[in-house]
Formats: sequence, C-alpha cells, structure tokens
Amino acid sequence: MLTSIKTNSFAGDKGKELGMMYFRVAIILFGAQLLMGIIAAIQFLYPGFLFEIFDFSVARMVHINALVVWMLYAMIGSVYFMLSDETEHEVVGIGLGKLAFWVLTAAVAVVVLVYIFIQVGSGSEATIWFINEGREYIEAPRWADIGIVAVVIIFYWNVFATYIKGKKTGIITVMVANLMALAGLYLAGMFFTDNISIDQYWWWWVIHLWVEATWEVFVGTLAAYALIKIIDAKREIVEMWLWIEVLMLFGSGILGLGHHYFWIGTPEYWWEIGALFSSLEPVPLIAMFVHVIYDWGKEQGANGTKPVIKNGPAMAWIVINAFGNFLGAGIWGFFHTLPQVNIYTHGTQFTAAHGHLAFFGAYATILIGMFYMGVQYAYGVERLKATFKSKMAIFLITFSLIGMTIALTIAGYEQVLVERAELGGTWNAFFVAQNLPWYVQAQVWRTIMGVVTFIGFIYLVWDLLTIGKEAQKAEA
Ligand code: HEM
Ligand code: HEM
Ligand SMILES: [Fe+2]
Repeated sequence: MLTSIKTNSFAGDKGKELGMMYFRVAIILFGAQLLMGIIAAIQFLYPGFLFEIFDFSVARMVHINALVVWMLYAMIGSVYFMLSDETEHEVVGIGLGKLAFWVLTAAVAVVVLVYIFIQVGSGSEATIWFINEGREYIEAPRWADIGIVAVVIIFYWNVFATYIKGKKTGIITVMVANLMALAGLYLAGMFFTDNISIDQYWWWWVIHLWVEATWEVFVGTLAAYALIKIIDAKREIVEMWLWIEVLMLFGSGILGLGHHYFWIGTPEYWWEIGALFSSLEPVPLIAMFVHVIYDWGKEQGANGTKPVIKNGPAMAWIVINAFGNFLGAGIWGFFHTLPQVNIYTHGTQFTAAHGHLAFFGAYATILIGMFYMGVQYAYGVERLKATFKSKMAIFLITFSLIGMTIALTIAGYEQVLVERAELGGTWNAFFVAQNLPWYVQAQVWRTIMGVVTFIGFIYLVWDLLTIGKEAQKAEA
C-alpha cells in the first residue's frame, strides 16, 4: 500500500517531490515571462526603449516562449504530483525522471541565453539547428527540439509504466491517453519547410491542437483530480463530466483547427469547416464551467453542512479557471472565429486580447491552483486557508489581466475600424492606426495593467513561500 510521511491525504512522496521540482522552475519562468511582457509593452510606447540591446522581437519571443515552457513545466509537475494519488502506486522511475528534469532545465537555460545574446543575423540551415527555428511560441532550435523529445519520452514512459502497474481510474486513463496526443503533436512543429503556407499549416497543429484540444482535456483532468482532493467531490460524478467534456472538446477542437486556415493559402472549404466546428468550441467550455460550479454547489448542499474546502487558494483559482476559460477562450475566441469577422480582426490587438485572457483564464489559473496543492502537500497540513497575500495575488492578477484584455480589445477595435475598414488594411494603414490616440491610450493602460500583474505575482510568490508555515502553526 502506498504511504506518505505527510499527515494529509496525499500519497507517493517521491513522485510529488519530483513534481515540485518542476513547479519551482515553472514559477521562476512565469516571473521571467511577466518581466519580458513589461519590456515589450514599454517598447510599444517608446520604440527606442532598449533598441539594439534588447529588441522587441526578442522580448516578445522570450515572453511567449517562457509562457509555453512554464506551463509545460507546471503540467509535467502536475502529472507527477497526481500520478500516485490516482494509481496508488509510487512513480516507477524517479532517478530517470530527475535526470530528465536536469537535462531539460539545462537545455532551456542554454536556449534562452542564445535567444538573448544572438538577436539578429541571416537565417540558414545552421541557424535552424542551433539558434532559432522561427516558429512563434516554439522557437527553440532543432537540437533542443530533439532533446525535448528525448526528455518527454522518459517522462511518458514513467507515467505509462506507473499507470500499467497501478490502479486505472477514469481520470488517469484520460490523462495517459491525452498526454500521448499532446506529446505527439509536438513533432508537427519540427519540420521546417521554406513554403510558408505549408509551414503554417503544420505549425497550427501544435499551437491550435494543443490549446484547443489536448491542453483543454489536460486541465479537465486536473480539475477533476483537484475537486476530489479539495472538496471531496464524488468520483463518479466528476469522471462522468470528464468523459462528456473530452468527447465535446475533441469533437469541436480538432476540426476547429480550420479557423486558422482561412487566409494562409489553404483551400476555401476550410471557411465552412472552421466556422462550424470552432463555433462549437465554447460548448465544452460551458460544460467545464457548469461542472466546477455544480460540484462545488452540490458538496455545499450535502448533509446540510458547509463543506470543508481543504485548500482555499487552490479552490479559488479553479473557480477563476472555470470563468476564465469560458470568457477568454469561449467568448473572446468566438468573437473572431467566423471568417466574416476574422477577415477584419485577423492579427490585430484583438487577437492579443484573446490570447492573454485565454492563456491566463484556461491555463495559468488552474496551474497556480496546482502550486497551492503542492504547498499543502509539502507542509503536511490538512487545510490551507487563503491568507491576505493569497487574496491580493488573486485580486491583482485577475483584475489586471481583465484590464489588459479590455485595453487590448479597444486597441483591436480601433484597428478594425481604422486600419482595416476605413483604410483598407495596407501597410501604411497599419502605422496610421497605431498612432491614433485610442490605440496609444490602450497600450498605456495595458502597460499599467502589466505592472499590476507583476505586483500580484510578487504577492503570489510571497504567499507560496509562507502560507504553508502559517497553516502548520495554526494546526499545531
Ligand atoms: C484556452 C484556449 C485558447 C487559447 C490559449 C487560445 C490562444 C490563442 C492565441 C495565443 C492566439 C494567437 C495566435 C497567434 O499568435 O497567431 C489565438 C488565435 C485565435 N484563436 Fe484562440 N485560444 C484558445 C481558444 C480559442 C477558442 C475556443 C476559439 C474559438 C471559439 C479561438 C479562436 C481563435 C481564432 C479565430 C484565432 C485567430 C486569430 C487571428 O486570426 O488573428 N481560440 N488563440
Ligand atoms: C506583465 C504582464 C504582461 C504584459 C505587459 C504582456 C505584454 C505582452 C506584449 C507587449 C505582447 C506582444 C503583443 C504583440 O506583438 O502585439 C504580448 C504577447 C503575448 N502575451 Fe503577454 N503580457 C503580459 C502577461 C501575459 C500573461 C499572464 C499571459 C498568459 C498567461 C500572456 C500571454 C501572451 C501571449 C499568448 C502573447 C501572444 C499574443 C499574440 O500574438 O496574439 N501575457 N504580451
Ligand atoms: Fe485555434
């Protein structure tokens, strides 16, 4: 039987500690992401800021690569964290898992240093291999791509072998199957072709099929796991929801891919396919929202007592996840998903508004929730109650991300009206629109909101470092 040295309801110390190693790096990269975002935001206002020292192209690239990488770290960490609880078996290859962690972390460090020190120059076959592959979000050069694949194979083997030896719950079965798809899709982003249509065609397999299919299923399983741990939600109900969500997420998300094939040289039938299936994508997001709220409400009603929320901050972040996923991905995504609308909004700040609220709402939130689960485990406490710092982090980060989204939506709206509709979307129109007051003011507000996000992040880190000790004291 699997045991733990901690007194709370978690089991499998070795896997959990490995998961926590990933969590720590994820938080550091999250901080780096935010700082890069602030630099890029200032460069929107003062284009000369750090020019030829730390160019916008680099700040933006590091911003979004750090985003993807910290989320992948937090996801790998979450899998190692929950694996033993679900399978009731210790993670099989801890030594190998640790080795993979260090190899991956060293590779990430080298890639970032190269990004920072080699900023300009002509592209060639060699630069694809050693410097930068040039594909947004997954710019890592090919040597790192291959390294990542090797590390992920070790990770997946660990998960799969533990699963085979252990108990097979619905949650972990979905997790194991989905991870296979998630990891496999990365391969589609590794084949460079000099035909930009073909290149974009495959690149979207990674980006879209990650965030709108496999990552969504991933957070579905995380929410299911976390609801059982935090509010003792009934497994049968949570798993029933999970299967429905998986069906709907894959049903709409896979062909929803078509909403990126409107204007890149792909056949015109993608207009109809993309419009239809991507319009259905908000439906599972509503289901996920209802699921969390329903379970929460149901547990409250059970035997007339107020439920014990065993991890207050994690629960709060999961509820924000339900709202944020629905708003950022569902609503802001739906706004521009029809080709009739997208022809005007494509590539404007409206896209950035959606990108920020969706990544934050659907992923950052629940992964932060998992960090709190990690803290609860590590300090061995039965209950983690939100502190003033937890609440400040929640408020400042959520408020500022909403503020940023509103600002960017206004900037995008101005671009649609002036740059696209009035001036016909020419290169010149692009610059005219970016110099009008609505746009400039929106960028000012976005920058202010970015600083607020960073202050919230400081509260978050401070809280993660102290809340466990405080809870231990309270329980003693
Ligand atoms: C959590 C899930 C989602 C995330 C994280 C996300 C994120 C993003 C990001 C970052 C982009 C910009 C990509 C680029 O750099 O070109 C984008 C584009 C887009 N997203 Fe999403 N998205 C999500 C879900 C959705 C959903 C559910 C819909 C539709 C209902 C949608 C519709 C679109 C469309 C149409 C574009 C293309 C925008 C353009 O033409 O410029 N997204 N998404
Ligand atoms: C300190 C707070 C932040 C600031 C100041 C900031 C700023 C920026 C800037 C200036 C860009 C470049 C936009 C462009 O090229 O038009 C950008 C892109 C992006 N950021 Fe942030 N960001 C912040 C936080 C975040 C967070 C928390 C997330 C997600 C969780 C995020 C996700 C993204 C994404 C997905 C893009 C690419 C969007 C696109 O190309 O459409 N950012 N950000
Ligand atoms: Fe998409």
